[in-house]
Amino acid sequence: MCGIVGYVGSREAAPVLMDGLTRLEYRGYDSVGVAVLDGRGVETRKLAGRVDGLRALLGRAPLAGRCGIGHTRWATHGAPTERNAHPHADCSGTVAVVHNGIIENADVLRKRLESAGHRFTTETDTETLAHLIEDAEGATLEERVLAALAPVEGTYGLAVIAEEHPGTIVVARRGSPVLIGVGEGEYVVASDASAVLPYTRSVAYLRDGDIAVVTAKGYRVLDEQQRVQRRSLHDIEWGLESLSLGDHAHFMLKEIREQPETLRSTLRGRLLPAEGSARLDGLNLTAARCTRIRRIEIVACGTSWHAGLVGRHIIEDLAGIPVTVEYASEYRYRRPLRVPGTLTVAISQSGETADTLEALRAAKAAGSTVVGIVNVVGSTIAREADGGIYLHAGPEIGVASTKAFTSQLAALLLLGLYLARQRGLPLERGRALVAALAGLPDLVERALAVEPEVCALAARFADARNALYLGRGVNFPVALEGALKLKEISYIHAEGYPAAEMKHGPIALIDENMPVVCVAPTDHVYRKVVSTMEEVRARGGRIIAVTTEGNGDLQRLVDHELRVPASEPLLSPVLTVIPLQLLAYHIAVLRECDVDRPRNLAKSVTVE
Ligand code: G6P
Repeated sequence: MCGIVGYVGSREAAPVLMDGLTRLEYRGYDSVGVAVLDGRGVETRKLAGRVDGLRALLGRAPLAGRCGIGHTRWATHGAPTERNAHPHADCSGTVAVVHNGIIENADVLRKRLESAGHRFTTETDTETLAHLIEDAEGATLEERVLAALAPVEGTYGLAVIAEEHPGTIVVARRGSPVLIGVGEGEYVVASDASAVLPYTRSVAYLRDGDIAVVTAKGYRVLDEQQRVQRRSLHDIEWGLESLSLGDHAHFMLKEIREQPETLRSTLRGRLLPAEGSARLDGLNLTAARCTRIRRIEIVACGTSWHAGLVGRHIIEDLAGIPVTVEYASEYRYRRPLRVPGTLTVAISQSGETADTLEALRAAKAAGSTVVGIVNVVGSTIAREADGGIYLHAGPEIGVASTKAFTSQLAALLLLGLYLARQRGLPLERGRALVAALAGLPDLVERALAVEPEVCALAARFADARNALYLGRGVNFPVALEGALKLKEISYIHAEGYPAAEMKHGPIALIDENMPVVCVAPTDHVYRKVVSTMEEVRARGGRIIAVTTEGNGDLQRLVDHELRVPASEPLLSPVLTVIPLQLLAYHIAVLRECDVDRPRNLAKSVTVE
């Protein structure tokens, strides 16, 4: 949600900012802008639209200078227009601010500033910050930013430059991530590591409440009490190739096809074949603590929530611990219940989703032990949790989550296995699961072979207006995920339902125009799902079944079968989701949708 970037050093700032914005564009892409200190003052270029448009604008009206900031926006306050695009300026145009987050008391601050004579030119909450800095007292830019932030309520990751303070960027963080990439005599600040990678692998993450001043000579971090702090340096573990498309048409397709490899990364070093268990040192859960767990609550949003629903089946089945799965946005506003022995698992690809982070904090405050299942190393959820499992799936750029989902499932399988073995799951069952997990990446490789068939199918369904996805048991969440993938990137209305619930409502929608995707691998509810297919068939619905190889009994009933390899039933969602990801992708391509940047969405939702 909004990407911010800043550069100070010996290079021209504008190309570095543009390069950073290109990599951050997945965070928001409705408008974009940069501001550079050119020795005389602050010069700004911005527009409604994409980074490519700004690049063309800079071609016509270049910016020179070695210090600057940039922003790619996902609108919250004010429509995505040129005026509302960041950077925002004060009355005199000497201060420029880029901001990610929401200033909650912006209306009050704005009224106060307007009555003191400030002229506002945008509808954004961010502009208040520029005017507050304009008025703030202080010899240095950080003193002014500190004073300006004092009355501000809400969340921010921000970067500021000002004419009176050449060669200086001040960044601040409360609730929205900011990091400093530390190079040789140059620094890149950004809201995520992808923007700094071409210049350095070494990054310092700001903590909530931190403010930092960055010049070409170095940087200094102050905490909330304005004490100078050392924030340790971390190495980014992935390379630039993770950020490039290679031979693929879109990041989403690249990430779908990458899944055998990303699953191998998630599992690497964590399978213990002899013990029939998993090594999860980062969890910080000793055997004694595991046995004290009385219930687990999983909190997450979007695709991560779907992974949580699969996780419930896995953990209850293997470890016998009751699990609830909650939308983080709902959980955070309910009365917190203190139940001894609760383990809360926050699942988040980005590790920055505002609702999931707040749910984690609420759970902690209620006395729960909190662990994270997170992809982005060093992200806020990863740092605030008591322990966790990193996915190691590499950066996910496509807005529609794919490889993170299957890695989340793998991490939940590892967690379920680990807990189960501490609580009496027989060694032999543990060993069988380890063997099945070890073989999973190869099965995903085979499942991907279905792509040509999916392409043909996509052509037949690309004009559909609605679609129904049905599944049962551990594959009901896969139906939800398949429907979500289709609606988010192709804009076809799609719903996921537990198969047997269809007769309680959605059956009224079924006719020959309604594609019904049935997720039906061979497991203990397979026959039940087949009965639902009969009901669909009887009403003329067109059925696409995702089923298991070697399963020859559906021809009579379904229009199309997409087969995935047979597996241990608890692992099957990792396989059944593959054709659904591909189907959504190919339909969206045929409909000429912007697959990697679907309208209105953002990759990382850091506002409520
Ligand atoms: C956004 C993304 C989804 C993602 C959800 C949760 O809505 O578009 O793909 O599933 O946020 O994100 P998280 O980073 O917490 O998994």
